[in-house]
Amino acid sequence: MKPMSTSHGKTALVTGANSGLGKAIAHALASTGWRVGLVARHRARGEAAVAEIQTSTDNADLHLFVADLADQSALRALAEQVLERFDRVHLLVNNAGTAFPARRLSPDGIECALAVNHLAPFLLTHLLLERLQSSAPARIVNVGTRIDTVMDFTDLNWERRPYRMMQAYGQSKLGNLHFTFELARRLQGSGVTVNCVFPGVFKSNLGGTDGAQGLFWKLVSVLVGWALPTADQAARRVLHVATAPEVDDVSGRYFGDRKTLKAPPQVLNPAANRRLWEISETLTGLSEDASALDVSNA
Ligand SMILES: NC(=O)c1ccc[n+]([C@@H]2O[C@H](COP(=O)([O-])OP(=O)(O)OC[C@H]3O[C@@H](n4cnc5c(N)ncnc54)[C@H](OP(=O)(O)O)[C@@H]3O)[C@@H](O)[C@H]2O)c1
Repeated sequence: MKPMSTSHGKTALVTGANSGLGKAIAHALASTGWRVGLVARHRARGEAAVAEIQTSTDNADLHLFVADLADQSALRALAEQVLERFDRVHLLVNNAGTAFPARRLSPDGIECALAVNHLAPFLLTHLLLERLQSSAPARIVNVGTRIDTVMDFTDLNWERRPYRMMQAYGQSKLGNLHFTFELARRLQGSGVTVNCVFPGVFKSNLGGTDGAQGLFWKLVSVLVGWALPTADQAARRVLHVATAPEVDDVSGRYFGDRKTLKAPPQVLNPAANRRLWEISETLTGLSEDASALDVSNA
């Protein structure tokens, strides 16, 4: 199929767009005239989000892509569909995220939090990079979190340690920052920027689908949930980094609420960033076709 041309407006792809923050981001972009590709893991949930956004924004230029981001073959098929459908991609928001109460392996044999939260953005970004570059100026926004952990490079797959949900989640999200800093360095001068945003703590179903929200968390969210910002409020932080003109040429930053946050020292270490990059290339099979990647400052 010939890619659809973008005769008006710009094109964004948002992962995890059927709920929470991703849906709020997709909604806001659609309401300002963007063509939006929404990535969801379940078709019915994705269709419901598309219908809701379409009704409330009157934007019919919404496109659903269904993929389980834990599965690298599904990610590759997703990228192919996106490239076929969109001849330009001006914005990629790597938002999908989750947590698991117990160690679970992806179809590729990788611990699932690492697979979904870090390797999926890594692989999808690489597979779409040429299209982002040919659409420049373009932006990549990685949704991260506040992290108080370090990457255990010797056991990324949680084979030697007892599994801890929050640590596994934290390390996989730390990967978003390592990735952002290394990619920004490699993309200097390419017209494509990449930043990471901490959206704040907000009301959410995070990890709910994967069984991470036990009774305790459900109770906590009932008790203190009312005091937390909504996903719509949290989305403003991401939208600022994704669309504000003052962020046009800004790359390699860790953003909070419109301001740069202090990045944890471990991601300011280029050797650590490069180390995770190289491991990620191997785990995603990209090292084999690395020559196909046009990342200029490697
Ligand atoms: N909530 C917070 O307080 C908070 C704080 C800091 C950072 N964040 C980050 O914000 C982002 C969005 O989270 P949220 O709070 O909005 O949670 P959410 O409502 O659960 O949204 C997460 C989205 O990711 C999708 N997803 C999860 N696993 C997937 C997979 N294997 N394949 C495809 N899609 C998958 C989910 O799909 P399903 O609906 O099918 O599960 C959902 O659409 C995450 O990256 C999270 O780490 C959240």
